[in-house]
Amino acid sequence: MATDLDSTRSILVVDTDTAAMDAAVSLLDGHKVYQARNISDAQRKLVEEGIELAVIGPGFAHEAGVNEASLLLDIQPSLPIVLVADGLTTDVLRAAIRVGFKDVIDAPLNQSKIDSMLQHIERAEAMVAPDFKPKTKIGKVITIMSPKGGAGKTMTSSNVGLSLAMMSGTPERVVIMDADLQFGDICISLQVEPQHTIVDAARDIDKLDEQLLDSLLATHVSGMRVLSAPLEPSLADEVSTQVVVKTLGMLKRMFDYVVIDTAPFLDEPVLSILERSDVVLLVVDMDLPAVKNAKLALDTLKLIKFPFEKIKLILNRVNSKARLDIDELERSLGLEVQAAISSDKLVPRAVNEGEPVVSLYPRSRVAKDLRNVTSLVLDGDAMDEPQEEKRGWFR
Ligand SMILES: Nc1ncnc2c1ncn2[C@@H]1O[C@H](COP(=O)(O)OP(=O)(O)O)[C@@H](O)[C@H]1O
Ligand SMILES: [Mg+2]
Repeated sequence: MATDLDSTRSILVVDTDTAAMDAAVSLLDGHKVYQARNISDAQRKLVEEGIELAVIGPGFAHEAGVNEASLLLDIQPSLPIVLVADGLTTDVLRAAIRVGFKDVIDAPLNQSKIDSMLQHIERAEAMVAPDFKPKTKIGKVITIMSPKGGAGKTMTSSNVGLSLAMMSGTPERVVIMDADLQFGDICISLQVEPQHTIVDAARDIDKLDEQLLDSLLATHVSGMRVLSAPLEPSLADEVSTQVVVKTLGMLKRMFDYVVIDTAPFLDEPVLSILERSDVVLLVVDMDLPAVKNAKLALDTLKLIKFPFEKIKLILNRVNSKARLDIDELERSLGLEVQAAISSDKLVPRAVNEGEPVVSLYPRSRVAKDLRNVTSLVLDGDAMDEPQEEKRGWFR
């Protein structure tokens, strides 16, 4: 065995470079070693494999790489994550510290560096109370986006959020975050009166922990929780991207499902939310400007190499008079329609009642459609999924 520390650890090595990966793995002989070539694979393994130490290789030790790798820091704050950098420059060091890495070491890795990482874990463990078990499962983040106002984002967010709350049987494990920072209207559509908003999180960002954040959330009659947007557009400026990212990181650890309503553009806060999402519902209205804007948004996401498999295309107001050729729409967007929501006057009626249509008119066609959208989100999760009429609109 290559190390004289007797316990076997689950260690994740993340690198893009095969030679560096092989070198690291050979030094870890005797441990249970997992390998990831990219950050999304690493995220999955961190959550699923009970990893005790993550080593991020020199392939990520540059500014963009460090930013990307910082997504791993959100998953389990107590997990030691070490970044290994080739020729440690101040630029890389500064970037790494800015995004929250605490341990950056100079390449190449050798046995004594590995041993000191392992000793570090042992010391950290010795200081933790024996019955303290950190939550390793992180919540699923579902973001509703559309580059066009009025497309039905808020309607979809509030209904999908409430359906998740009802279907899961644990509404208190579901939160809706209103990230339409200027004109957020989630609270109005759910008839929730917020005592606090994300602006309070921004004002206390250095002190923000899970307990404080919990006290800033409102509670819907169902038990579902809500983080309100600022109450006035002028306050949106106080909520920086860093605040959005930190808040979302915490919500992911506190809840099973985080549903996020967004503003109709792709600015920095929205992009950083998308990067941290597991599922993105792209809501497209049945008209040409909506399709054109959706195409432009998808082009932007392509440029930043956003993983398209996370995007689910949802058509809204499908039976309205506007006749759009679905095949043409799918071809022009390069995505298949995954679900459709019918146009129904019960929707605005429910909005005005302050109760989502899925709970006010649960037997309506549109409520069924919205439950189908929710089951797309649940895909793969262990929960009773309503299978009725799945993909029933066009195929
Ligand atoms: N499927 C639908 N049928 C009828 N009205 C709808 C439907 N979807 C949205 N609406 C109405 O359209 C308006 C805009 O929807 P909203 O969800 O607020 O859009 P966004 O959040 O994208 O700006 C609201 O008044 C809503 O009630
Ligand atoms: Mg809206």
